[in-house]
Formats: sequence, C-alpha cells, structure tokens
Amino acid sequence: MIWLAALLALSAPTRTPDLIAQGRNAYAIWCVACHGASGAGDGSVAHTLDPSPRNFRTGKFKQGARVEQIFATLRKGVPGSAMVGFKNLSDAERWALAWYVLELKAGRK
Ligand code: HEC
Repeated sequence: MIWLAALLALSAPTRTPDLIAQGRNAYAIWCVACHGASGAGDGSVAHTLDPSPRNFRTGKFKQGARVEQIFATLRKGVPGSAMVGFKNLSDAERWALAWYVLELKAGRK
C-alpha cells in the first residue's frame, strides 16, 4: 500500500483559497446534515447516529488526519458507520472537501 500512499501524496493539489471555497460549497450540500456547519459533529441528524459524526474541530481522525488520508476516507467511508464512501463525487470535489475538513479542524471557519 506504500505505493498507493505515494501516488495519492503526489496527486494532492495544493491548498488554495479557490479550493477551500469549492470545498465549502460541497460541504454545505453533502456533509452539513451530519457534521454540522462548523464541523462540530452536530448536524441536524447527528443525534440519530451511533457512532456520532466526527467533530472535525478536535483534529482527531480514526483513519488519519493528512489530506491524502481524508481524501481516501471520502472515497471508502468508515465501515460500520453512517459515513459512506462518496463515490458520486469526482476526485476534484473530494480533494476540495478534504482540504475544507482540515480548515474546520483549524477552527478558522
Ligand atoms: C449520514 C451522515 C454523514 C454524512 C452525510 C457525512 N458523514 Fe462523515 N462521518 C459520519 C459519521 C457517523 C462518522 C464517524 C464514523 C466513526 O466514528 O466510525 C463520520 C466520519 C467522518 C470523517 C472522519 C473519519 C476518521 O478517520 O475518523 C471524515 C473526515 C468525514 N466523516 C468527512 C465527511 C465529509 C467531508 C462529508 C461530506 C462529503 C461527510 N463526512 C458526510 C457521518 C456522515
């Protein structure tokens, strides 16, 4: 799997304001109901879920906190939870979302 990590690392686009803006738009459509507007894991349906949606502001992730790892999570989901793999989204959309998740972690939004 090392080759895969290297491949993903190579293809990770640089964080830009434009990418963050795209991520914010996609997040409002696909993620906000579970993860909440500020990423605190307190979206409108969060209380119905077990395990609870991740609180991005803590910066703790089961499957890794690097942008490449969050990108991978967005493709494959988290087994045994309501976090599905978003195979409907393009790679470009997943990179924008991965960067935006890290933006929420930093508490800058
Ligand atoms: C239907 C509810 C739901 C939606 C919609 C949803 N998630 Fe999640 N998400 C979860 C749950 C629940 C977890 C926690 C899984 C666990 O702890 O096992 C999670 C976990 C995560 C994690 C953390 C994985 C880890 O390694 O700890 C990331 C990153 C994430 N979601 C990103 C997103 C993004 C970005 C979107 C929008 C594209 C999204 N999620 C949409 C429910 C959702």
